[in-house]
Amino acid sequence: MRLRFTLNGQALDLEGVDGSQSLLSLLRGLGFTGSKEGCGVGECGACTVLLDGLAVDSCLLPAAKAQGRELRTVEGLARGERLHPLQEAFLEAGAVQCGYCTPGMLMSATALLERHPCPGDAQISEALEGNLCRCTGYQDIIEAVRLAATKTEPKP
Ligand code: FES
Ligand code: FES
Repeated sequence: MRLRFTLNGQALDLEGVDGSQSLLSLLRGLGFTGSKEGCGVGECGACTVLLDGLAVDSCLLPAAKAQGRELRTVEGLARGERLHPLQEAFLEAGAVQCGYCTPGMLMSATALLERHPCPGDAQISEALEGNLCRCTGYQDIIEAVRLAATKTEPKP
């Protein structure tokens, strides 16, 4: 199929796409390998991307669902050399260990902060409940999101 969508602000027009493959598989095949495959069945959140601003499990969605939509992945967070406030905050708060969950966490947290710039801990926990982390115990991640809410987003 022909698939047209916006990826991290760039318009893509792709021919011959297998629309039944997962969105995660399409993205990784395009070289956007920041989104990870953990469980592959919607349980871990490692594959989280933003579809029209909403955090979704890209392992569950057929690639065809991207038609005409706006997609964002972890690769779209930084502005050139400058990290996104959430990326800075994750580093500062020590919220990254093995890093496998981190792209998905960052995208879920991005969706949260775009809707609620100053979230409470309960809102943060709720926003990240679909993202599993085997390493950090979650407290450092919640602290990182709190910290990011105090930072300013870089301009494009
Ligand atoms: S890989 Fe998609 S939710 Fe686990
Ligand atoms: S940092 Fe290892 S799974 Fe979260």
